[in-house]
Amino acid sequence: MSFYSERILPHLTNFACSASPNRKQREKIVPLAAGDVLEIGFGSGLNLPFYDTRKVRKVWGLEPSEGMRRKARPMVDATRLDVELIDLPGESIPLESGSVDTVLVTYTLCSIADAIAALEGMRRVLKPGGRLLFCEHGIAPDRNVRRWQNRLNSPWRLVSGGCNMNRDIPDLITHGGFRITSDERMYIPGAKVLSYNYWGTAEAL
Ligand SMILES: C[S@@+](CC[C@H](N)C(=O)[O-])C[C@H]1O[C@@H](n2cnc3c(N)ncnc32)[C@H](O)[C@@H]1O
Repeated sequence: MSFYSERILPHLTNFACSASPNRKQREKIVPLAAGDVLEIGFGSGLNLPFYDTRKVRKVWGLEPSEGMRRKARPMVDATRLDVELIDLPGESIPLESGSVDTVLVTYTLCSIADAIAALEGMRRVLKPGGRLLFCEHGIAPDRNVRRWQNRLNSPWRLVSGGCNMNRDIPDLITHGGFRITSDERMYIPGAKVLSYNYWGTAEAL
């Protein structure tokens, strides 16, 4: 891990992900989590204040970056929730099959190298009737914005720690073995290439 990815990027990512439009998106999706929750790409713990503590029993926060886990520590220490961090990538979920009620993934499917493998793992660990909750940015509907997303994707990946601006989020979720049960999308305020949001719920097929 480079000095940039472990010491600088966590601060930049935390700053970008703390923006007010993203907070409003978190408010829409995180309170739906219930029971035993697995959060993939826990980052700096920005979803923690939005969990409904009356409904959630435990949160496993899977986060492969040590720098991000370090950044998350004050949030974890401040919450009343029972949180356990897991030092692994989304492609290697260590939990038992059929063991969680909710999988939450926010602004992370863009960065997981093998997103389909990660989604298959999320499907594996969900209990029957469990739900995937997602809120992600991805490919925009407008041709001009898409063109810029495709042009800028490679340099953006280099500076952002592997984030892709042009992933088709519903397509990924479907190919990962889920049926999307609630599907909302819109531009949130911000640079158009990074602000087309997809959020909703999905169930394992
Ligand atoms: C843009 S941040 C979002 C963090 C958090 N989910 C949020 O909403 O604020 C993307 C996160 O994905 C993590 N990440 C990168 N590759 C990953 C992988 N293969 N599996 C799980 N998380 C990964 C990064 O370390 C980073 O914390």
